[in-house]
Amino acid sequence: MSNQILKGKNGIIFGALNEASIAWKVAEQCHAEGANIVLTNAPVAAKIGQTDELATKLNAPLIYADVTKMEDMQNLVDGALKAFNGKIDFVLHSVGMSLNVRKKNPYTDSNYDYMHTTLDISSMSFHRLMQTLMKSDAMNDWGSILALSYIAAQRTFPDYGEMADAKALLESYARSFGYHYGKAKKVRVNTISQSPTKTTAGSGVGGFDAFYNYADQMSPLGNASADQCAQYCVSLFSDYTRMVTMQNLFHDGGFSFTGISTDLMQGFSDKAQGK
Ligand SMILES: NC(=O)c1ccc[n+]([C@@H]2O[C@H](COP(=O)([O-])OP(=O)(O)OC[C@H]3O[C@@H](n4cnc5c(N)ncnc54)[C@H](O)[C@@H]3O)[C@@H](O)[C@H]2O)c1
Repeated sequence: MSNQILKGKNGIIFGALNEASIAWKVAEQCHAEGANIVLTNAPVAAKIGQTDELATKLNAPLIYADVTKMEDMQNLVDGALKAFNGKIDFVLHSVGMSLNVRKKNPYTDSNYDYMHTTLDISSMSFHRLMQTLMKSDAMNDWGSILALSYIAAQRTFPDYGEMADAKALLESYARSFGYHYGKAKKVRVNTISQSPTKTTAGSGVGGFDAFYNYADQMSPLGNASADQCAQYCVSLFSDYTRMVTMQNLFHDGGFSFTGISTDLMQGFSDKAQGK
């Protein structure tokens, strides 16, 4: 399905590590919709990921950048402006990592050096990115900036650990920076709160498979896939959503507004009846 709704637009896409990455699907669909893409990922992704293969496939420049480094961010924005020979219309921030979750530290016994790094990579990088774009006057008017979030920013999901706090901060930056970028340049800033999705980062969360199945049974439409998330991103990069900004937009098949589903109720009824 392609309607060329991003024809001629220029976009930077962070975080396409491998074929399972949400950003990978977004890059493919943006390309199919006519956009010019610059890909970026952490330097370590050159060793552990396949971002370079996607870059070749989409004929997209690949500029490695560690999102915690200001100079890397500036180099990325400068490189993208040069590659496009023009300004940027959209950006996807699809970056997340929790050291305490990775080290399996209980939330109540977190290491603060790790937590600092988690917030730096997963949240402050979004502010750093937008500040760099703004100072370089790199975005076209009516541009669109998106980051990916998760509902643990609003409700407690114990195994999500400190990433819940990281996502809460990420969503706050979308509101706070979104105000200033809207006033200055009509640039819109939003987060998409996506269903559990089977990716490298997603699978790092404890008990991910049980969690994935729970969300799938809870949501009237089931879990949203990475491909469907990419379609939603395309719509938010397009000119059809120019007045949507400073929002956290749920893309979760209805999970966020469902109290209990009939599927899950059946399990409790069976238990009550001793089945
Ligand atoms: N998978 C899920 O269930 C799910 C659900 C909701 C939201 N999200 C969010 O979607 C986004 C993308 O994650 P994904 O699930 O596609 O997993 P992924 O592992 O494919 O992507 C995470 C990316 O972050 C990059 N990254 C990590 N540290 C970095 C650094 N210092 N500098 C630059 N890049 C760095 C990784 O290289 C990787 O490409 C994340 O923000 C994640 O929290 C994921």
